[in-house]
Amino acid sequence: MKPEQPLEPHPALPDYYPDLTQRPAFVRRMFDRTAGYYDRVNQLLSFGSGSWYRRRALTRAGLQPGMKVLDVAIGTGLVARQALAVTGDPQSVTGLDISAGMLAEVRRLLKLPLIQGLMEQLPVADERFDFISMGYALRHVADLNATFHEFHRVLRPGGVLLILEITRPAQPFKRALLKFYLGKVIPLLSRLTTGNRDMQTLMRYYWDTIENCVPPETIIAAIRDAGFTEAGCDVEFDLFRAYSGRKG
Ligand SMILES: C[S@@+](CC[C@H](N)C(=O)[O-])C[C@H]1O[C@@H](n2cnc3c(N)ncnc32)[C@H](O)[C@@H]1O
Repeated sequence: MKPEQPLEPHPALPDYYPDLTQRPAFVRRMFDRTAGYYDRVNQLLSFGSGSWYRRRALTRAGLQPGMKVLDVAIGTGLVARQALAVTGDPQSVTGLDISAGMLAEVRRLLKLPLIQGLMEQLPVADERFDFISMGYALRHVADLNATFHEFHRVLRPGGVLLILEITRPAQPFKRALLKFYLGKVIPLLSRLTTGNRDMQTLMRYYWDTIENCVPPETIIAAIRDAGFTEAGCDVEFDLFRAYSGRKG
């Protein structure tokens, strides 16, 4: 069943693009231009959202050898690499991303099937996968409802959805600290360590999308509305969120 209303993850951010119709092109351009620096800056972010965190989230959500995985918004493959370590089969994990730059980068680093496409309109047949993972890309989609319906469509019955995200902390002190760190320190360090201005813009945008993102309850409700059972979310440090759901 198609969703009735679109659900944007955040309102337009006019510092970066004039209106929401320009957002997909902006996002794609930014990731294309920064793909070669992404892993380095991701190390800087640390905050525990590294390889061990991704692998632990995958196994906690039930990923096992033999499962067919679609890693949506694969980027440079930081989640896919951990999924491959669990499944043990290079053909078991398929990566999807809209950015040709990111796909070129992951192709250099990993051997696995790759698809260029939008997660809001997955170019994938129904009920193909046992597990869908998505790391830190929820804030970039045009429509959460359409995206979650697509995830539901391509999962087999019993299949699992896992979405990793960073969320604005509820506590004002933590929020102010994170705003300073992610909104100011990381963008500056990103530029200093890579010499790339687009990386600075991307990291500023990273915080602005976190700050303006719809609340976790809205995301969980949208996962449930797309047809998932057991829709929920694990929270750590009032910051890291692992949303999940199961296709009934
Ligand atoms: C922050 S990176 C995340 C990479 C990786 N998943 C990780 O855990 O680090 C976000 C990725 O989402 C991709 N992306 C953004 N919007 C997308 C969309 N609508 N459809 C598919 N990929 C998208 C970008 O090209 C980028 O590679």
